[in-house]
Formats: sequence, structure tokens, C-alpha cells
Amino acid sequence: MTQRLYIETVGCQMNMLDSELVVASLRNRGYELTADPKQADTILFNTCSVRQHAEDKVYSNLGKLRRLKQEHPEKVIGVLGCMAQKDQHSIFRRAPYVDLIVGPGQLHQVPDLVERVQQGEGQQAELSLGRTDGSNDAIKRSHESFDPLRDPTMRPTPWQAYVRIQIGCDKFCTYCIVPSVRGPEQGRPPADIVREARTLADQGCLEITLLGQTVNSYRYREGDKTTTLAGLLHQLHEIDGLLRLKFVTNYPKDMSEELLQTVAGLPKCSPYLHVPAQSGSNRVLEQMKRGYTVEDYREMMQRIRKRVSGYAVSSDFIVGFSGETDRDFEQTVELVEECRFKNSFIFKYSERPGTKGADQLPDDIPEAVKKQRNNDLLAVQNAISAEDNQAFIGRQVEVLVEGPSKASRESGSDGPVMQMVGRTHCDRIVVFEGNERQAGQLMPVVIYESRPHTLFGEVVTTCSGPDVFAVDLSA
Ligand code: SAH
Ligand code: SF4
Ligand code: F3S
Repeated sequence: MTQRLYIETVGCQMNMLDSELVVASLRNRGYELTADPKQADTILFNTCSVRQHAEDKVYSNLGKLRRLKQEHPEKVIGVLGCMAQKDQHSIFRRAPYVDLIVGPGQLHQVPDLVERVQQGEGQQAELSLGRTDGSNDAIKRSHESFDPLRDPTMRPTPWQAYVRIQIGCDKFCTYCIVPSVRGPEQGRPPADIVREARTLADQGCLEITLLGQTVNSYRYREGDKTTTLAGLLHQLHEIDGLLRLKFVTNYPKDMSEELLQTVAGLPKCSPYLHVPAQSGSNRVLEQMKRGYTVEDYREMMQRIRKRVSGYAVSSDFIVGFSGETDRDFEQTVELVEECRFKNSFIFKYSERPGTKGADQLPDDIPEAVKKQRNNDLLAVQNAISAEDNQAFIGRQVEVLVEGPSKASRESGSDGPVMQMVGRTHCDRIVVFEGNERQAGQLMPVVIYESRPHTLFGEVVTTCSGPDVFAVDLSA
């Protein structure tokens, strides 16, 4: 009999991709997806540990299943991903009705582990080695995640897919849990990446986003040949059918000239760069052990400006990190004002047990101050995003149509005309009136209205030809 799977995913794109692979491997065993945990035979949570809030949410959702498991002990409940790796067997103590704990490096084992639970073998846990629990090779092997299976229904849209090019992280920023839960940095062999991208293109994918915690640090050595991200982009650019190539997340120090020239020179590469700065204060960056100064970051921005036309840069910031003064925060505001990011993801510092930050630096900024700084920085960023988006009014952009907008989906509109959503080459969200057949196509759209995070436009339907309206490919 077909079994049903419910899976809930939080965290970064890496986790979205991991969930796709878990679903594909369970489909191979005859599973079907359900959106209702009550209908499911197996309930999985793919978790994140980057901030306390992300963990609290999972534990609260797990708590809601206690009754269901009492009434249906045959249902299998599993905790996967970064929080499984971080909290390990303590999850069984906190939620004894959990059957399965699987770290991000062991996800290929999920189908077998589920079967073992169903066969009455009791609680199962498969975790990778800690950063000091063995030889470097053994630790690396225990974190190798798997990528062979893909599941189109789990992708952001049928034309967009993630491809992992790097696992783990060796940067050890003092606030960050990722190096301990995702293990050492390892590049995937370029041949495997290109093969996977080709398969995805054959399946109709138009856009591929390469994933790595510090994706531009990617290096793969074979004999005396080293492949960099730039080299990889050149190889992927050759694949017929692919229209757009993106990569996240970038590390400021590794934004090489070679990479910027590649992005500028290859038309399929989106001129969109997500390069988190984290803070505008050298003192804070030093405490975070980010490995660069504000001057280095500014210099990188100048190089992007000079090399990549039509570029858009986005950033992440942590406010309220240990010892952050009002002056430190002002410097962050100044950096945001100067760099004019397309958008910034802003987070309140959340102390993570086991990190250097938690061991050596006090979490001494009151919650109210963190919150205020978060709001203030967001307001500064939103004003910039609004201004920069306004400059698009009257311009024609090329939009890769993703599908009906959230508003259309929620209102259940099924008429021929509906609100559609897509993105420009530099990752700006564009909403327009269209129809579902446009999904997966590149459409010329003229912008007539803007908000901080959305452009509103109209599809160009004139027959005046490209000599009259030149499509701005850089936008
Ligand atoms: N590898 C990526 C980011 C991974 S985590 C990079 O290095 O840029 C995503 C973002 O979460 C980070 O950029 C940082 O801004 C934020 N973050 C990480 N640890 C955090 C913590 N302990 N508290 C608050 N925000 C954190
Ligand atoms: Fe975390 Fe720093 Fe690695 Fe990013 S680079 S994953 S912030 S340790
Ligand atoms: Fe979270 Fe793990 Fe990603 S901790 S941010 S899901 S790598």
C-alpha cells in the first residue's frame, strides 16, 4: 500500500535541497506526499539551528504531535537536519515520541531508518562526527551528503532548481553553528555538478542556483588542475536550455576578479550577488572573526560596481552582537547607506551553545536594544530599496515568470487572467497581470509602479519590434 509522507522544512536553501532529496528517496520506496500530518504515515521535520527561534519553532511543532502519536503509535516521526546534528539524543529525552534523528550528512539513510522503526527496531539515530571526533578524512566522509536523486515537485518551481556545489564550512565565524553541524568545507567534483545540471536542464529547468555556505570559496583539485567557481560557471554556461545561473552565499574575501569578470562576461550569470557584510564596525567584525575589514568590503563593492553592469548586491547583518555599541551600530547604518543593497536580511544576535561566541563573549545587548536596532536598520534598508525600485518605473525588464503570485494562489483565482510573479535577471520581484501559460517563459515587462520589494508591470504586447523597445537584459 502507498505510504504517505508529510515533511516540514525550515532554514536555508541547503535545507530545501536536502528535503527534495529525502522526498525523492522515499518516493523510490513508494511514498506519496501529503500536506496534512494527520494523513501521513511518516512525519519529518527538516530543521535549522542557526538561531534559537528556528529551534523553538520545531520543538513547538513537535509538541503538537504528542497526542497524534499516542493515538497512532504506528506513525513514524523524524527530526532531520542541523538541529538533529546539534541536539542529538537529547531530542529523544525532550520528545520521547520521536522515532528518528538524522543529521544533514546522513540523510541518504532516511528510507532504511524509517523501515527499521516500522519493523519494531525502536528509536534510530544516525549522526555525523563532531569537528574533533576523528581523523579529518573520517569527519569529512561522515558529512558527505548525497545528491543523486531529485524530485521535481519539491523544487521552488518546475523551472528552478538548486544544485549543491559545496558542503560544510571552515570559516568558524564566532557566532555561527553551521561549521559544527554541517562539518568541514568540501567541494563537489565539477563533473558531478555539470552532469546534474545537464539532467535538470533536460527536465526543463531554466534557472539553476548553485549552493554553498561560502560558494565563491569553491575549489576542487584533481591532480594539478584546480576548478574555481568561475571555471565551473564557464562549464555550466555551455549547457543548452539553461537561461540563468545564480550562486549563494558569497564570502566577501573570496570575491575574486576572476569571478566578477566571469559574471560580467557570461550573459546567463545573474548580475545578482548575495554577499553578507554582517556589520559595518571593524571592532565587531574582528570579534565575529569574519576575516575582513569594512575597508575590504568597500573595496569589494567598488570592484563589483566597476566590473558588473546592472549589478544588485544584497547582504545579511547581525545586530546586537556581543559588545555592539551605539557607534558600532551607526557604522553599520553608514555601510548600508553607502552600499545601497538591493535588500538586507537583518537578524538579532542569538547565542548558539558550542560556538566561540557563546564560550568567550557575553550576550550582553538587551533584547529591547537588539529589537530597536533591527527595526532601525530595516527602515534604512527599506527606504533604499524603495528608492532604487522607483528608478525602474518606465523601464522595460526581462522577467523569468515563476507562476501565479501568492495573492492569486491564496484567492484561488482560476480565470484566464491572473496576477503572475517572476524575477528580473538581478533578482527583483515583478508582479503583473498575465496567464498561467506564461509560467516558465521570459517575458518583456514595462514597470509602472514600485514598492520596496516588488515591481509592478505590464507585459509588452506591442508588435513594434526590438528596434523600438530595446529589452534591458541587465535589469
Ligand atoms: N554561510 C552564509 C550564511 C549562513 S547563516 C554566510 O556566511 O554568509 C545565514 C545568516 O544568518 C548569516 O549570514 C548571519 O547573518 C545569520 N546568523 C548566523 N548565525 C547567527 C546567530 N547566531 N544569530 C543571529 N544571526 C545569525
Ligand atoms: Fe557561518 Fe561564517 Fe561559515 Fe557563513 S562563513 S556559514 S556565517 S561560519
Ligand atoms: Fe540553518 Fe543548517 Fe542552513 S543551521 S541556515 S539549515 S545550514
